[in-house]
Amino acid sequence: MTRLAGKKALITGAARGIGLAFAEAYIREGAQVAIADIDIERARQSATELGAEAIAVEMDVTKQDSIDRAVAATIDALGRIDILVNNAALFTAAPIVEIDRQDFDRVFNINVAGPLFTLQAVAKHMIAEGIRGNIINMASQAGRRGEPLVAVYCASKAAVISLTQSAGLNLIEHGINVNAIAPGVVDGEHWDGVDAFFAKYEGKAPGQKKKEVGEAVPYGRMGTAEDLTGMAVFLASEEVDYIVAQTYNVDGGQWMS
Ligand SMILES: NC(=O)c1ccc[n+]([C@@H]2O[C@H](COP(=O)([O-])OP(=O)(O)OC[C@H]3O[C@@H](n4cnc5c(N)ncnc54)[C@H](O)[C@@H]3O)[C@@H](O)[C@H]2O)c1
Repeated sequence: MTRLAGKKALITGAARGIGLAFAEAYIREGAQVAIADIDIERARQSATELGAEAIAVEMDVTKQDSIDRAVAATIDALGRIDILVNNAALFTAAPIVEIDRQDFDRVFNINVAGPLFTLQAVAKHMIAEGIRGNIINMASQAGRRGEPLVAVYCASKAAVISLTQSAGLNLIEHGINVNAIAPGVVDGEHWDGVDAFFAKYEGKAPGQKKKEVGEAVPYGRMGTAEDLTGMAVFLASEEVDYIVAQTYNVDGGQWMS
């Protein structure tokens, strides 16, 4: 399969989880991938496991100099960037009366400012080089509807959907397609953290919330990172030429919009 033959991709937060599954899928389709993550040790380990078509890049999406260095390092190593996946994010939960301003700032810095300024840095490169690139933002079903204990994370993912719309409409004049994926509940280390929040605030036994959300999915189970790779490859490919500023639900039937 070579739907991404010769393409060069930068994926943030790709040391593990969904970003890592996307990296594997992109390599299978003929791309080279920069695994960009704040956890550089794990990024190196993952890149080594993926083989010669992957490189590890240190990146903290909350710091402009780190974004600029990571983008420059990717271009140095791979020659250019055709595909960006804004995947790095952090989950948080608390009742409204317990939301902490520092936690809000931390989450919005990673989940909203991170994708915006990474997208900006990569778009500048694409525009300067005349690259008709593809940018994919990771939203969430949490961005489609608020949840009682998840105000900050839900708002951050609603902001990602909105940024995808504005950036998509602005950058299409350069032939750059910006779209997003809204997953439902995806099993992995991220959800182990989510489960711990619900254990704390809803008094559930560890693993109970995860079991409940999985059973509530119309498809009948939680998603896996691999369930998302079809959409991730599609949105990174030239097949999306006329698709602009959209957010696609990949969630086993959870949300309809
Ligand atoms: N897992 C789910 O159920 C689910 C559902 C909907 C949406 N999503 C979204 O999908 C994306 C990936 O989720 P996941 O489950 O793989 O998450 P994950 O927590 O397993 O992975 C996130 C990665 O981001 C990295 N990271 C954290 N802060 C960073 C920073 N400041 N700079 C660079 N890297 C940083 C982490 O080191 C980690 O490798 C996220 O945007 C998440 O919000 C996940």
